[in-house]
Amino acid sequence: MTRHFLRDDDVTPAEQAQILDLAEQLKKDRFQARPLEGPQTVAVIFDKSSTRTRVSFAVGIADLGGIPLIISTASSQLGGKETASDTARVLERQVAAIVWRTYAQSGLEEMAAGTRVPVVNALSDDFHPCQLLADFLTIREHRGELKGLTVSFLGDGASNMAQSYLLAGATAGMHVRVASPVEYAPSATVVADAKKRAEETGGSVTVLTDPDAAAHGADVIVTDTWVSMGKEAEKAARVETFGGFQVDAELMAKAKPDALFLHCLPADRGYEVAADVIDGPQSVIWDEAENRLHAQKALLVWLFQQNAEGATA
Ligand code: CP
Ligand code: NVA
Repeated sequence: MTRHFLRDDDVTPAEQAQILDLAEQLKKDRFQARPLEGPQTVAVIFDKSSTRTRVSFAVGIADLGGIPLIISTASSQLGGKETASDTARVLERQVAAIVWRTYAQSGLEEMAAGTRVPVVNALSDDFHPCQLLADFLTIREHRGELKGLTVSFLGDGASNMAQSYLLAGATAGMHVRVASPVEYAPSATVVADAKKRAEETGGSVTVLTDPDAAAHGADVIVTDTWVSMGKEAEKAARVETFGGFQVDAELMAKAKPDALFLHCLPADRGYEVAADVIDGPQSVIWDEAENRLHAQKALLVWLFQQNAEGATA
């Protein structure tokens, strides 16, 4: 069975740690792993806009000895004209992996079910697991161990970032708190999956509606846009509802004095985060953005290793 990376709990706690260890190594020695030498090609498909994901996958695939083929859905047959599974059947005969940023998680599942090459979720409406690998690499660099840390996500609890924090944080043995207005709470299924994972790792999962309680004593504060891609028509209503969830200096003061601030970017200063927080001394956003490169390279190397071992097993 081909291993894919469609959501954060597609890897076990030990595997997540292995990928992060490898990312640390690749950050120290950027051209150490060359699994794509040939060069082999990786398809990187975008149904939605991107800066960081596009650049970090393109650069990372080149670092690994391969060639990135960046495909915009608008100029391809995918997206209404051809199914994900037919696309997968075509691509797998020519590329080493498929990386896809899309809307519905079900599209990724269909793509993965139809192909022998690894499929990587480069953001869906439900999850952003590559971002979480970068975030965790960043937190490890600044704090050492992930296990036992309290990480609080404030804002849109139903967003890809919040839901990935639940799954990835529980996998890492962290205490994950997600605070959002009640109508933007995370999916009950994702919360249940995260709780199950947390039972294995000694972590915990708490869903709240009070931002101050969520921030209290936290080691890491995280937020993201209140208006994710695809939700633009709801902007006015969302800004009104999320008003009390802005991460500002007062909220940061409720966390530990040395708490880190993370944001996957792009950011709307003055909305989900105050400028003095995101541009202040506790913010590690530039390390976080750089770490997309190292974390995704490690993920690809790891997936190729897993699938090579699976093929010979
Ligand atoms: N954080 C992130 O995924 O950024 P992009 O949308 O620019 O890829
Ligand atoms: N939640 C955001 C993340 C952007 C990287 C979105 O989906 O637009």
